[in-house]
Amino acid sequence: MREVASSAELGAATDAARQRGAGVGFVPTMGALHAGHRALLARARAENGFVVASVFVNPLQFGPAEDLASYPRDREADLAVLAAEGTDLAFLPAEGEVWPSPPEIRLRVGGLADRLEGLARPGHLDGVATVVAKLLHLVGPSRAYFGQKDAQQLAVVRRMVEDLAFPNQIVACPTVREPDGLAVSSRNAYLSATERERATALYRALSAGRDAFRAGRRDPGAVEAAARDLLEGAPGVEPDYVALVDPATFEPAKQAEAGQVLATAARVGRTRLIDNVIL
Ligand code: PAJ
Repeated sequence: MREVASSAELGAATDAARQRGAGVGFVPTMGALHAGHRALLARARAENGFVVASVFVNPLQFGPAEDLASYPRDREADLAVLAAEGTDLAFLPAEGEVWPSPPEIRLRVGGLADRLEGLARPGHLDGVATVVAKLLHLVGPSRAYFGQKDAQQLAVVRRMVEDLAFPNQIVACPTVREPDGLAVSSRNAYLSATERERATALYRALSAGRDAFRAGRRDPGAVEAAARDLLEGAPGVEPDYVALVDPATFEPAKQAEAGQVLATAARVGRTRLIDNVIL
């Protein structure tokens, strides 16, 4: 595995791969790599001749009161995971390499960011879209891999690629979970042992909602209530939202249908967790 920090070296290496005729797969990350990231890397490895991964904690997507400073960073551990997953090129730029100065021109997400995560974290999805646009330009992948875990981020990236005619294919990968159902996340590291136990309520709640759908409930409110009831009854868990939405627009479902996303966010102690299931 080769490790580069500059856009120039990155560009030269991906140009060379394309000239050899290799398909370029790209996995953008913020590091603190775990089994969720590994699944994306493995899929990219299986589908492409050349795999690029980036590790960049993007300041544009963190709000002023969020965890930018404390976000877990472990360069050596990340490099070991990337190498073990057969990554060809690791791009670990310094902040000043990606954003020499705060970008004057940024992407702004429309109505898709007026809901759920977009409401809870103003500017977050704009910051994601802006950095993903830049990374896609720098890497020029045939395919870029994103987790279903961040369903609204995935919808924003898909829509950006469509609206602005990016030539890259976006590949969605299923959410990787712990054996007890908790979605694997870098932020799980913030949980105490008690909170870690309590955090299983998110997936249990979403499963209850999905079970209601499977049992024949078609009123979105009934599906959401099945999930919300469980979440509200869980000790030490403060629900933020439970919503059944269209996977592309994130508009509220009018009628529950297969393929829709049942999404939740909840605070467990001081840690805000998100999760979702597809009906
Ligand atoms: P990060 O949180 O590091 O996640 C990188 C990718 O891993 C995202 O596509 C995310 O959805 C995926 N991922 C995280 N946990 C997962 C899980 N349990 N199962 C499957 N996939 C999972 O998301 C970001 O970074 C950033 O916003 C980024 C896209 C890199 C832009 O800065």
